[in-house]
Amino acid sequence: MRADTEKILVLHGPNLNFLGKREPDIYGATTLEDINTMLQERAEGLGLELTVIQTNHEGVMIDAIQQAQGQYACIIINPAAFTHYSIAVRDALAAVSVPAIEVHLSNIYRREEFRHHSVVSPIAVGQIAGFGANSYLLALEAAAGLLGADKQ
Ligand code: DQA
Repeated sequence: MRADTEKILVLHGPNLNFLGKREPDIYGATTLEDINTMLQERAEGLGLELTVIQTNHEGVMIDAIQQAQGQYACIIINPAAFTHYSIAVRDALAAVSVPAIEVHLSNIYRREEFRHHSVVSPIAVGQIAGFGANSYLLALEAAAGLLGADKQ
């Protein structure tokens, strides 16, 4: 197995660094640090290596996606507000041959209408939304399934 087949890039978009204190009725009390720790622990169990990046900047997210080419086997991405309007983030994901799994803490389809549309979903392998912090763990399980890491 090539080294890059076991590496997963987790990308958190804008305002997710405020998790825990940001609209806790919607996003819960779990902090981003808690989520990253949970992910790292689960990844170790699955034999996967995680790199985690949070950014509030569209260009930084695009650079990270472009640099994932040839380096990572899968991208788990919560594009946050970029989900709904960033054609540039979507195009970056489409430009690389790394499969992407889209994640949302909240069920975006139960919220304001402007959140019902994701420009990212059509180029993602799939989307997991509505399970709070657990959405990320479910996405990691899905990534492990894609890579066959759950069968080792
Ligand atoms: C979010 C949903 C988005 O609509 C919102 O802009 C976010 C977080 C989620 O994880 O539920 O910032 O992606």
